[in-house]
Amino acid sequence: MRTIAVAAALAVSSCGARRAPPGNSELRPVGQTELRAVAEFETIRDRAERSRALFGEVARVLTHPRCINCHPSGDVPHQRMTMELHDPPVVRGPADAGVPGMECSSCHQDRNQELTRVPGAPNWHLAPIEMAWVGKSISAICHQLKDPARNGGKTLAQLVEHNGHDTLVAWAWAPGADREPAPGTQAQFGALTAAWVETGAECPEDQP
Ligand code: HEC
Ligand code: HEC
Repeated sequence: MRTIAVAAALAVSSCGARRAPPGNSELRPVGQTELRAVAEFETIRDRAERSRALFGEVARVLTHPRCINCHPSGDVPHQRMTMELHDPPVVRGPADAGVPGMECSSCHQDRNQELTRVPGAPNWHLAPIEMAWVGKSISAICHQLKDPARNGGKTLAQLVEHNGHDTLVAWAWAPGADREPAPGTQAQFGALTAAWVETGAECPEDQP
């Protein structure tokens, strides 16, 4: 289990997405299932630096396989901690919900199916291609999240609301079967997103 998780982290970090958040060297080390609380970032005095460090924590969730598997850069969802391509082969189709005969809803219901292991949540479908995160750096994902042309026309306030309350997002903490949930809780994730926005929604820059 642990080796598989490490492999997934490597798969992402080879593209730079799992780089340690900048400015958080003074923060408490945490395990991969845990999120740091907003208050722990108050030791970072500089507001912009604190904002970038907060995004680094937010990105630990965004780049977790439970989230990023549904935000692929191609037409095929990813699966499992290894982020392998979806088996059986399925494609996003014109509305990100599959194609006739292989619609997401042919298998994915509005809740997890424990007997068949098929995960589920209401309106299960892929994030549109402009919201693709796989293979992108944390910095690139950050700039993209703030861009209404690439985030579904959301304001920063709507982004906070989405992260804190959306039901597809919520699934990542109750993924069914033996799947590893995203780190922390959705409430913590929502609070971290809000704190990032309140501190200016700064983006970490890629290290050369
Ligand atoms: C079952 C597929 C699925 C899963 C799992 C999923 N998403 Fe998404 N996500 C979507 C879809 C579909 C949209 C577009 C719908 C919308 O904008 O409301 C989206 C949009 C978003 C957006 C807003 C657009 C953007 O990219 O800026 C954010 C933020 C987001 N998801 C975060 C997450 C996070 C965080 C997780 C995991 C905790 C997650 N998603 C898991 C399907 C998924
Ligand atoms: C023929 C049935 C079937 C169809 C059609 C199907 N899926 Fe799946 N999907 C599965 C099964 C089964 C799993 C669980 C695999 C496992 O974990 O062992 C799965 C897992 C996933 C996962 C991975 C969850 C995770 O984090 O490991 C995502 C994301 C996903 N499907 C998205 C989609 C989307 C989007 C569509 C439509 C474009 C779709 N699926 C169509 C059967 C299907």
